[in-house]
Formats: sequence, C-alpha cells, structure tokens
Amino acid sequence: MSIQILGTGAYVPERIVTNDDLSRMVDTSDEWIQQRVGVRERHVSVSESAADMGAKAAQRALEAAGITADQLDLIVGATVSPDRICPSVSASVQEQIGASCPAFDVNSACSGFLFALDTAAAFIARGGIRYALVLGAERLSRIVDWSDRSTCVIFGDGAGAFVIAPGENYLASHLFTQGGDSVLAIPLGKGNSPFYEKEEEPLAVHMSGQETFKFAVKQIVGGLNLIAEQAGVTPDQFDYIVPHQANYRIIDLAARRLGIPMERFMLNLDRYGNTSSASVPISFDELARSGKLKKGDLIAMCAFGGGLSSAACLIRW
Ligand code: UT7
Repeated sequence: MSIQILGTGAYVPERIVTNDDLSRMVDTSDEWIQQRVGVRERHVSVSESAADMGAKAAQRALEAAGITADQLDLIVGATVSPDRICPSVSASVQEQIGASCPAFDVNSACSGFLFALDTAAAFIARGGIRYALVLGAERLSRIVDWSDRSTCVIFGDGAGAFVIAPGENYLASHLFTQGGDSVLAIPLGKGNSPFYEKEEEPLAVHMSGQETFKFAVKQIVGGLNLIAEQAGVTPDQFDYIVPHQANYRIIDLAARRLGIPMERFMLNLDRYGNTSSASVPISFDELARSGKLKKGDLIAMCAFGGGLSSAACLIRW
C-alpha cells in the first residue's frame, strides 16, 4: 500500500506523578495500581498544552526523518484533550514548527493516532503529497477528574509523531467504530448557555472500566487477526506489536488468546500510563530508537477506546 515511515519522535512533560503521590490524593495504593493496571508513574503537564507537546514530538520526528517543517505537505493530528477546540492541535503544531501545509485533527479517542495515520495514508494514495506529519498529542490531566480513583490513576500526558512519505510498507489496516456513549464518554460541560436544557455533564472522563476492558481484549484479538489475514500472514509472524498502553492485563489476555509471547509486545505503560492517542506513537518511537528493529520486520499497531473505536495496522520496517 501507500506509505513508509521516515522518522518518529515523542515527548513527555517533565513532571512525574507516582502512584504514591496519587495515594495521597485519592483512596488508592501503589500495589492496587500496579496489580490491576500496571502503571508505576505517569508524566503530567503543568504548563504545556497538547499542541506544545505535539510540536516537540514533531520536531524530533522531523529530525529523525531528515527533513524540515517547510517540506511538509500535510499534518493530521489526533487528540481528545486540546487546550482549545479551535485552533486545532495540528494547526497550532503547524505554527510552532514553522510549516505552511494544511493541518487538521481527527478524533477517535485512544484509537485516534491510527485513524490519523490511515487518513494521511489515504491522502498520500490520492497523490500530490511528498511528506506528511501524523501525530497524537494529549494533555489528559486537564480532563481527568482527579477525585475519581477509577480513572485518575490510569492516564498520563504526552505526544508522539511520525513523518511518513509514499512507499510500500503499509501492508494492512482496519478501522472500527461502534458508536455510543454509555461505556466511555468525555462531555464538554455546558458552558454558560441560558438555553441549555439537558442535565449538566461536567468535563471529565466517564468510563465503565470493565466494559471497556472486555471490548479492548476482543478488538485487539479481532483487529490483529484481520490485518494478518489482509497481509497474507499469521499473527505469530509479527515481529513486534505496539499496542495502546491502557492496562497490562488487557495486553496479557490478548497475547494469550493470540498465542503470541508477551516479549513481542512493546510495553511502557508502567512509565507513562495511558496517554490515549499519543500512546501508540510514543511506544513505536521507543521501539524504533531501541536499536532492536531490523529491516523487513513486521510490526503491528493496535488501539481501542472511546467511540467506541478500535484500529489496527501492519507495517514492514
Ligand atoms: O484508553 C481508553 C480505554 N480504557 C481502558 O482500556 C480501561 C479498561 N479498564 C481497565 O483498565 C480496568 O477496568 C480498570 C483499571 C479501570 C479498573 O480495574 P478493574 O479490575 O476492572 O476494577 P473494577 O472496576 O472491577 O473495581 C474493582 C474494585 C472496586 O471495589 P469494590 O467494589 O470491589 O469494593 C473499585 O471500587 O477496585 C476498586 N477500585 C480501586 N481500588 C483502589 C477502583 N479503582 C481503584 C483504585 N484504587 N484506583
């Protein structure tokens, strides 16, 4: 298919919040969080917006790709936690890095980066685009309810980015949406409209953890099987899998069902928590910079989250 990855980059804010820090804020413990989720600490922004972090990840991806921002023809970003609804995170990143191409965001929650990647791949397939920047950038700390122990212990902030170009290394992709707000929703709040009649839903992540958990395992297994079939391989031929970093137990269960050893799954949620749309590109960047990858490796990416949505794709390195 239509693309190759030329360079990747990631950025997380400096401030680290440990499980012990959280146990002084809500009724939780380091032991519960490590056992039930797998997170030890997360990075939290004190002043940087999703766009600020996205711009730093983008700079690193541009450096890795060996191109400059003025060479970009397209920026597609994913986020659910912009500091402003307008301008888009991608438009702010465009300004900060000094690009001049069209830039827009997509929203498919934690699957957003893979939706953005597929969108950019489709633009490249249409023709006329030499270099595109795809990014996931999140400041989830501003939309999490820090008094709700069932959500605030999970999330973290950060950004990740790819520079892509026309190529032949995007072997398969699958996007899925099952619309509905009963399992996972982030309402915006009502503002000060005097005409608003619905019951106020304050800005916060509302999530039914167990329902999301079951959806996640099913979609990882289904998505990875589907992309393997599309590419004419079997999932056990994947050299690495870069999953959305939501919960160690989700990945472990999916790995067992697929019969793939856990060592092939890229894991860093212990250090970053769930950074929503930034989680796959941050993890991919870490894998790419680890020195482990060999030319020709088959790398699957998969994600799931609000929408409900899920996505998977397969690339050849
Ligand atoms: O990226 C978006 C996608 N999101 C996800 O993938 C999240 C998927 N879901 C999960 O990761 C897990 O469901 C959670 C980590 C959110 C929750 O873990 P769980 O094992 O499903 O816990 P639970 O909701 O069944 O709760 C078990 C118990 C409850 O107490 P009782 O009712 O048994 O007394 C909760 O109140 O654990 C309690 N609990 C906590 N205890 C200590 C919930 N959160 C905490 C906490 N610390 N932070």
